[in-house]
Amino acid sequence: MRILVTAGPTREYLDDVRYISNASSGRMGYAITQAILNAGHEAVLVSGPVSLVPPIGAEFHAVESTDQMMQTCRELFPLCDGVIAAAAVCDYKPRERIAGKMSKTGAPISLEMIETDDVLAALGKQKDSHWILGFALEAQNERENALQKLRRKNCNWIVLNRPEAIASEKNSVELLDETGSTIAAWSGTKTSVAEKLVCWLEINTASLIK
Ligand code: CTP
Repeated sequence: MRILVTAGPTREYLDDVRYISNASSGRMGYAITQAILNAGHEAVLVSGPVSLVPPIGAEFHAVESTDQMMQTCRELFPLCDGVIAAAAVCDYKPRERIAGKMSKTGAPISLEMIETDDVLAALGKQKDSHWILGFALEAQNERENALQKLRRKNCNWIVLNRPEAIASEKNSVELLDETGSTIAAWSGTKTSVAEKLVCWLEINTASLIK
């Protein structure tokens, strides 16, 4: 299999030196990439800025903004069998990026933010015979919200995890299918969760592998 993985946060710049982002370490996506390689498959990693070293053997694409992640993933997805979207994409960006550096004025400022494009939903629209596994980070109405995301983004499955996963070495996840049923649940280090997830995908995507 050749699997596309998104990982890490994206950044959206207010001016040339300031940005907003998400508190994502990239650990889950990098652990998944390593698990894919360990299982003898090809991994294509599209990552926002993190302090991790890309696993040796992965085809690595560094991106910064959501637009860059979008463009890179849309180009690479058709060449892969499926995608695992573990990135913590910035949901909003400033309406305008100011050139240079904004100076302080001593007065409060307000920032107009608009929604970024949804990378996973865009891949969902170009799905064809590919499989799609999304992640959902939920703090309340977890299963219901995750299922809505799965459907809205045209995923086959979605991994439900919670805010405790952010910046942690560990994760506790549930895998939901299109009916909203929990078809697997794993807890432990992100490395062990990633191994179990890849093992599960090997079995359950077998009919889709070219
Ligand atoms: N995602 C994406 N592009 C975005 C936002 C999210 O590709 N602009 C992907 C994430 O990588 C993840 C899934 O969509 O696989 C769900 O992300 P999550 O942050 O849980 O949900 P959002 O769709 O951003 O919705 P909300 O923040 O309202 O919960």
